[in-house]
Amino acid sequence: MKIAFAKPAAPNTGSYVVGVHEDRKLTAAAAALDKRTRGMLAAALAASRFRGRKGETLDILSPRGVSARRVVLLGLGKPADLGSLRLQRIGGALLAHLNRVGESTATVAVDVLSDGTPALPVVAANLAYGARLRAYRFDRYRTSEKPDHKPSLRSLSFALEDANGARKLFAPLARIAEGVDLARDVVSEPPNVVYPESFAERCKALEGLGVEVEVLDEKQMAKLGMGALLGVAQGSARPPRMVVMQWRGAADPKAAPLAFCGKGVTFDTGGISLKPAPGMEDMKWDMAGAGAVLGLMAALAGRKARVNAVGVVGLVENMPDGNAQRPGDIVKAMSGRTIEVLNTDAEGRLVLADVCWYTQDRFKPRAMVDLATLTGAIIIALGHEFAGLFANDDELAARLEAAGRATGEKLWRMPLGDVFDRMIDSDAADVKNIASDRGAGSTIGAVFIQRFVNGVPWAHLDIAGMAWSKKDHAITPKGATAYGVRLLERLVARHYEEAGG
Ligand code: BES
Ligand code: MN
Ligand code: ZN
Repeated sequence: MKIAFAKPAAPNTGSYVVGVHEDRKLTAAAAALDKRTRGMLAAALAASRFRGRKGETLDILSPRGVSARRVVLLGLGKPADLGSLRLQRIGGALLAHLNRVGESTATVAVDVLSDGTPALPVVAANLAYGARLRAYRFDRYRTSEKPDHKPSLRSLSFALEDANGARKLFAPLARIAEGVDLARDVVSEPPNVVYPESFAERCKALEGLGVEVEVLDEKQMAKLGMGALLGVAQGSARPPRMVVMQWRGAADPKAAPLAFCGKGVTFDTGGISLKPAPGMEDMKWDMAGAGAVLGLMAALAGRKARVNAVGVVGLVENMPDGNAQRPGDIVKAMSGRTIEVLNTDAEGRLVLADVCWYTQDRFKPRAMVDLATLTGAIIIALGHEFAGLFANDDELAARLEAAGRATGEKLWRMPLGDVFDRMIDSDAADVKNIASDRGAGSTIGAVFIQRFVNGVPWAHLDIAGMAWSKKDHAITPKGATAYGVRLLERLVARHYEEAGG
């Protein structure tokens, strides 16, 4: 779908979109429309139940005196609530509506859509961003879909005097959307297509954006002593990989970076602690943390963020096999600590133990954030509304929560603490990978990772409930959500990026 910004002209032949505030008030700016059109809109409003609530739509087909074949009244809700995220969601709802009704081209009359707060270019850019995000579809394996079922919209144009201003604001948002779609793609792919080596290939492609990409194979990881990650990988015919992606956008390329670590289990059968068959296919997206790190690095490099950032992903497949690790095995992590593996299905924390240790040891980051589809327990606690946030640093936690509110990728802080940490002391090794009862399952995963962050300011995001959605949301179609890309992009932009540009 093509997105364009242009100066207002006569409505085209497709749809013409006009904004309406809650309680059916045309925006004051709609006074710019000619009298006959206004009369027609007022009559249509009077004849309908349309209220102008956010994202609500009302179609007027073949309107008289207008060259567009359809006028879409678009609900804006209350003017006071019209922030960036609200606008993005309205843009997403509009995109879905236009596809539902089979429209192919549409023009949004921004100059008559809003009363000028926020500024019209901001309104246009955010509506466009929301539409762009909602337009994603993973359809590369559908070979026989009926045309009627395919999205119809080809071009969406935003008409306003300051089209240039809107275009400038939209440019970095489009780069972020590309990062989001990259993450959605890699997470959506089936596990016979995306496995550690092929995932690493997709990371390599970021070199085109100026990202330095290193791929470590199992020999290099063995040399570094990454027994925790390698223990998970050893049951799979697919060799593991670790990928280090560096973006140096700060004035000083040697300044300490911000670090992002991702769990990249390309398929999680549970290993010898085998998962039940129903729903096991969901475990193709057990690499969504790594997918988000990949998308984030693409977003930051794509919009040339003035920050040094490093993304590190641990890529393994967790399989049962004659060579798989057993419950009871003891492995040695890169940190030098020994781990008793009591459940081979608690594998994400084993991968992150080596990824996080390596990252802090090599990069001495200002702060480190890991993302992982780590525990089913976080879905029990928070459903599909919030990711779990665990942090050893209150400032970092508060910044993440604020970024969550700004992007709609919400976080809820959960506890860490010595009482929980003691529960993973092992009788046979330094630490065990599960506690002896099922309580506080998500925190147990978090305190395990905490033993491998060496005290750096750190946050762990348990995204098991957020990585995949069974239903459409305004700017996130069902399927892979790329949760974390927009959240962490916002964190960087708001708190870690240098001024200027
Ligand atoms: N990848 C799973 C967690 C998961 C579950 C993600 C459901 C998304 C949806 C993780 O590796 C896992 O298996 N965790 C276990 C931990 C347990 C063995 C302590 C779990 O949550 O049951
Ligand atoms: Mn598992
Ligand atoms: Zn897993």
